[in-house]
Order: sequence, then structure tokens, then C-alpha cells
Amino acid sequence: MRVSSTRSGSLPPATSESARCEALRAACAGILDAHGFIPGDQADERYCTDWSGARGHPLAVLRPRDTQEVSRTLAILHELNQPVVVQGGGTGLVGACVPQPGEAVLSLERLRTIEEIDPLSATATVQAGVCLQTLQQAVEAQGLYFPVDIGSRGSCQIGGIVATNAGGNRVLRYGMTRQSVLGLEVVLPDGRVVTRMGKVLKDNAGFDLKQVFIGSEGCLGVITRVLLALQPLPTGRHSALVAVQGFEAVLALLTECRRRLGPRLSSFEVMWRDFYDISTGLLKKGLPGLQLAGSHVVLVEAAGYEPAADEALFADALAGFEQGQSGCEVVLAQSLMQAQQLWAIRDAAGEAARAMSPCVGFDVSLPLAGMAAWVDQTHQRLRAMGLTRTQTYGHLGDGNLHLLVGLTQEAGISDRVNELVYAGVGALGGSISGEHGIGLSKKAYLHHNRSVSEIELMKQLKTALDPRSLLNRGRIFDMS
Ligand code: LAC
Ligand code: ZN
Repeated sequence: MRVSSTRSGSLPPATSESARCEALRAACAGILDAHGFIPGDQADERYCTDWSGARGHPLAVLRPRDTQEVSRTLAILHELNQPVVVQGGGTGLVGACVPQPGEAVLSLERLRTIEEIDPLSATATVQAGVCLQTLQQAVEAQGLYFPVDIGSRGSCQIGGIVATNAGGNRVLRYGMTRQSVLGLEVVLPDGRVVTRMGKVLKDNAGFDLKQVFIGSEGCLGVITRVLLALQPLPTGRHSALVAVQGFEAVLALLTECRRRLGPRLSSFEVMWRDFYDISTGLLKKGLPGLQLAGSHVVLVEAAGYEPAADEALFADALAGFEQGQSGCEVVLAQSLMQAQQLWAIRDAAGEAARAMSPCVGFDVSLPLAGMAAWVDQTHQRLRAMGLTRTQTYGHLGDGNLHLLVGLTQEAGISDRVNELVYAGVGALGGSISGEHGIGLSKKAYLHHNRSVSEIELMKQLKTALDPRSLLNRGRIFDMS
């Protein structure tokens, strides 16, 4: 990555919030245009919150238009010793982009150009603020495919999914976002720009620095441009719901799908009854009139390049499984619309969470062998604490489970639930965050997942890149 430096200077410190906001406005005047600076007291609601529901209030909102403006803005903030939180689409679930007292917001929403889609190298070069769905549609129009897909696709931004190494529904086939990133442009907290956007797959010239920023939750630098690897657009996509009795049958189905479908298997999403009933009942998702029994309902998707043969293979594999499993029912989507209706059941996760508020949400990874017993035991212990409302579902093809627990008014209940869940995850050798990250809401539990020496090394990296701890301060861990 090439590093270029920016100007330096100094500005007088200001004390009250309004004075500090005015000092910031004056300092940014030659950098940001009329739409580039919003005083905190005029900031729209979207700059104050994220999908976790946490709320804060920014000192000011800074809206640069390109890498150079981000660079010059961060250099100013560095001079002013001004803490700043970076915002993309605001769809995070761990409070990472919610402004904390005294923080300015740096929004990437105006960096929304798809600079190039290159069919020969199968890459897309995009600015950080491009919406995921916009990119998906643009590359599909050219017969290409960007495989990262998450429920918030209509709102989340490319910079955000890279900064959080987003997972989602197709990880078992294409990996997390990290696997689709070929290059990055990053602005460091002091304004230096670091660029490595080469369209080459093989590049072992020293450290692969981009990996440090992918999944860093915005704590080490601001991603402004991304070079993404694309795939050929699958020409056929086949979806089915499979209801089974017992978790052993879920695992048997996963094994059978892998064996029969091989690399065509693109999603294996499992819904426990507590989630499925809310989505299809309360929220009325799915096929009209469809009733499925079973303890678990699995949404299976295969994608390939020989639609007729793949469809026959898909139907045959699931029919064979159904015959061999008592209590199993298979519903094949017969049209694109039906496939969308089946996916709507799973994609209702955000809506379902809001319907259960107040609740606490988990995003754990567990070895599949221990998952069923862990879920049953956790549900039982929650019931013993008087907590009967749960939603359980996840991307089981890659061992990632989501559990939402509806809370009571009891004091300290949220902490007790967190301790119960994370102690069990740590004991099983799982992860306290499969895909959502740590942000603010999970940092108290990081020690269940990372050793003292790992956390120490993370802090050393933070100090090396952000010695004043101005960028996304207090996310993932506290420096003190
Ligand atoms: C999902 C989000 C919550 O899987 O990660 O729906
Ligand atoms: Zn998920």
C-alpha cells in the first residue's frame, strides 16, 4: 500500500459543545462543501442510531465526497484532537457507529460511485458508500455476481461490510466478505492515505496490509475505496424449505446436501420453531396456506450454471432425503416468486427482533457437534430465569447461530443472560461473534473469546495506527 502524507498545523482548543462544533466548522470550511457539515443539533435521526437501537448524539456530522476530502478531514480532526465515529449504512447490530458523547460523525454516504466493473479481471472498484444491493444489481446486469448477501442489503454499504467483515447467507460457499476483497484504499486516523488496489490475485510482496483493516470495525482506519472480486453469475437458483424432526435430522440433511450438491450448495439456513412461528404467524411471511410441522425448518439453496440438470439434482437429493426421514417435509419453490416468499421467512429477522423488543441478541459460532445440546440447555436455563420468549435461527452451514431473548423488567437481567450465554460459548470453544462484531454492546464479553495476549496485540495495533485513539474510540475494547 502506498502511503502519502497530508498537511499539519494546529487549532485552538474549544471547551463547550457549541464552541467545539463551531471550531470544527471553521476548520473544515475549506474542505467540505455546503452539504458537508451538519451541526450536531441539526443532525438527522439516522446519524444518531444503528439497527441495535442504541442512540447517541453527534457533535457534528461530516460528509466528505471522496478520499481526498476524507483525508483532509481526518487530518483536521487529528490536529483538533477530536474523536470521531465512522458511519456507513447504520445497519450494524452492536452499536459501533452510534456517536458517543463528544464524538463527531464521519459519514461515507456521499462516496457512492461504482467506478468500474471490469469483466476481464472480474472485479468491481467502488467507493465505500455504495449500497450493497446497488452493487449486486449493477454487476448482475453484466453477467457477474457479488456473492456477499445479508438481510440489510438495501441499506448497508460496501465500506461497512468490509470494515465488519460481514457474513450472511452464502458464507458456506463464498466465504465472509474478506474472501471477496482484492484491494483497499484506507485513510489513517492522521489523514495519511494508504492505497493498494491492484487487480492481481497473487501478491505476496510483504505484509498483506488490507487484512488488518477488514473486520477492524473502523478502529484502525477509514475505508474509502474497495476493489472487489466478482464471480460468474449463476444461471439457476433453486430454493426449498425442509421441515425436519430433531437436530440430528438437520445435521443429516446438511451432510446429504453437501454430498449430493457439492459446490452448488449456496445456503443452509436453519430456523428453530420459535423463530419460524413468529415469522410465518405474527409477520405472515411465506407461502399462503403453507403449514409445516417439525422442530426445525431449513431453507436450502443451490446455485449453478446448468439450470435444468441442477434443478433435477436438487429435487432428487431432497426427495431422497424426505423418503429416508420420518417426519420430514420438503417444499420446493416452483417459481422465482415462491423462492422470494420462502426467503422472506428468513429475511424477516430484523422485523421479528423489533417485534420482541426489549430483547438481547446473540450471534455466536459453535461447533456443530455441540450445538443442539447447547441450544436446549440454554433455552431451559432461560426458562428457569422466567424468560420464555426466544428466537433461534442461523447460518448453520457455517456454524453461526443467532439467539434472541425477550427480556423482563427485572434489574440486571440483560447482564445475567449475557453471562449465561457467553460462558457456555467459551466452554465449547465457540465465538461470541460469528459475524456482527463486538462494537460497544459486546466488548464486556470479549475475554470469553480472546486471550489476554490477543487483546494486548490488538491494542498495540490500535496504538500504532491511532496513537491518540480518536477513531471509533472504545469500540471492541477500551485502551485504558
Ligand atoms: C441475520 C442477521 C441478524 O442472519 O445476521 O438475519
Ligand atoms: Zn446472520
